[in-house]
Parts: sequence; structure tokens; C-alpha cells
Amino acid sequence: MQKVLIFGATSAIAQAVARSMVARGCDVFAVGRDQRKLDALVADLRVRGGPGRTIGFACADLDRLEGHEALYAQAKGALGSIDVVLIAHGTLPDQRACEASSEALLAAMHTNATSAIVLASLAAAQVVDGGTIAAIGSVAGDRGRQSNYVYGAAKGMLALFLQGLRNRLAGRGVQVLTIKPGFVDTPMTAAFERKGPLWATPERVAAGIVRAIDRRRDVVYLPWFWGPIMLVIKHIPERVFKRLSL
Ligand SMILES: NC(=O)c1ccc[n+]([C@@H]2O[C@H](COP(=O)([O-])OP(=O)(O)OC[C@H]3O[C@@H](n4cnc5c(N)ncnc54)[C@H](OP(=O)(O)O)[C@@H]3O)[C@@H](O)[C@H]2O)c1
Repeated sequence: MQKVLIFGATSAIAQAVARSMVARGCDVFAVGRDQRKLDALVADLRVRGGPGRTIGFACADLDRLEGHEALYAQAKGALGSIDVVLIAHGTLPDQRACEASSEALLAAMHTNATSAIVLASLAAAQVVDGGTIAAIGSVAGDRGRQSNYVYGAAKGMLALFLQGLRNRLAGRGVQVLTIKPGFVDTPMTAAFERKGPLWATPERVAAGIVRAIDRRRDVVYLPWFWGPIMLVIKHIPERVFKRLSL
């Protein structure tokens, strides 16, 4: 039985992962910022898990880096050991606001990059040998575009950090998984027109995350078609790319 710790557990994608993990018999420790959403998630997971299943939780703002170690200690206290860590929290910053305000820029980088990499770094000492550290990046992290390069840069930093961590932990058999979703219909994208073949449900992306953990993947694009799309986008020469309205 796997013991799973999820940061940003109230995210739509993470909730779907948590439900799937509980359905396959895992114990789950959920860390979320919004107590009301966390209570609803934990109640739901406890019903799904039934008696004998451990569903622990902690309410925390993950921007507060000084609280991260205590969260791992709490999770370990509840679960006994940690097989899988999923880092899922994030924000979609207003690009224009970040261009106008250094404060907004740093806040976006802090939540999407610094906070996530500090949690991933600490995970190295917490997860069992052969375990998994997974974090949700984004296809936006593959190339800087004028419409969202602050978010993209943060996710790109996370991806590069995970690449190094993967290299460091390979000898211990720890899987370090970089998850790169495309457009997902969640509260984060509520302001978008969410129709069309490129949009996926959080359940579809969650199923892909669980499958990628099972298959010990290093990097996964979700849904799969974002892999070829980003391959093309990454190979457009910079002298052409810089003139595109993307
Ligand atoms: N939706 C997409 O199209 C898409 C595409 C690529 C990647 N992603 C990534 O997927 C992940 C999950 O996002 P989602 O789409 O599921 O959106 P979501 O439902 O809006 O989830 C975002 C979650 O992050 C949490 N969060 C933000 N800042 C936090 C903080 N300082 N401390 C603790 N929790 C914090 C939010 O908590 P509250 O509930 O308290 O606000 C929320 O639960 C994110 O990393 C996102 O960047 C999403």
C-alpha cells in the first residue's frame, strides 16, 4: 500500500489524483490552504477509503517556506513513511500586472517556483528509496511567450530543478516526475473560453499523472498530444518566434 503526500491538495487536478489514489488503496495526507475545501476533500476521501484507511490533512499557506519542514513531519507522523510526494499548488498570474509591478512578479515566482522547489528539495530526504517525487509544471514552461512568460519562467525553473534532482536521486531509485499539462478545465482557467479539442478535464490529467507514476516516467505531457505540439513550438527559430503574437 502506498503512502501519498499531496501539497496543494485542493487543486482540481490534485483532488482527482487523491480520489484515484484512495480508490486503489493508498493512504493520503492532504495539504491545502483553504480549510473549507480541505474539509470537504478529506470527508470525501474518508468515505471513499472506508475504515482502516489513513486520510490525514494540514491547512497551510505554502508561500510560507518556514512551515514546510513541519508539514513533512506532520505527514510522516500520520502516514509512517512517504512513498509518493505530489506538489500541485500554483497560481496563474496576471502577466500585465507582473510587468507593471515587481511585487506581483515576485509573488508569482515565489508561489510557482520557489515554494515548489523548496518542497521538492525537502522531499529528497523524506521519501523512501524507490519512491516518487512528482510536481506539476506546465507546457508554458517550455518556451517564453509574451502572453504568460512570468508563469512560464516559474514553471521552467521548476522543470530544470526537477531535472537536476532526478539526476541526483537516480542512484536511490527515486522517480522524479515533471508533469506538463496543457489547457485544463479547472478554477485556475475559469476566465478562459474553455472549449475545443485542446482542453482536458482534471480527471483525464489526473489519470495521466497516476499512470506516469506507475510507469516510472521522468517527464509527461498531459494529455499526450502536447508532447508533439511542444516539440514543434520549441524548434521554431528564435528570430521567427520573437515576432509571433503568442
Ligand atoms: N489548469 C490548467 O490549465 C493548468 C495547466 C498547466 C498546469 N497547471 C498547474 O496545475 C496545478 C494545479 O492547478 P489546477 O489547474 O488544478 O487549478 P486550481 O484548482 O485553481 O488549483 C490551484 C491550487 O493551488 C493552491 N494554491 C495556490 N497558492 C497556494 C499557496 N500559497 N499555498 C497553498 N496552496 C496554494 C490553490 O489553493 P486555494 O484553493 O486556497 O486557492 C488551489 O488549490 C498548478 O500547479 C497549475 O499551475 C494547470
